[in-house]
Amino acid sequence: MSPPPPTFDFDGQAIPFRPGQSVGAALLAAGIRSWRTTRVGGRPRGMFCGIGVCFDCLVIVDGQPNQRACLVPARAETDVRRQEGSGHGNLS
Ligand code: FES
Repeated sequence: MSPPPPTFDFDGQAIPFRPGQSVGAALLAAGIRSWRTTRVGGRPRGMFCGIGVCFDCLVIVDGQPNQRACLVPARAETDVRRQEGSGHGNLS
């Protein structure tokens, strides 16, 4: 019997991943297709180019906003959160 896959936290949900997978790939594999909203209009966005060019896949990783989910390697115990707008909404 193989051990369970490692997971990272996504807004309170444990997301399994395979070694070498990006955060974005793991989210897609878990059936999650959008994880941020646009600054204007609040429209949903997720993976688009998948290669770090379009910036559609921004997430908050360990408190750092504007991280490209398609480039951030998935790591166990990482705290990943949806990003609303610029991701700085909690700053005054
Ligand atoms: S999907 Fe385009 S930068 Fe990540």
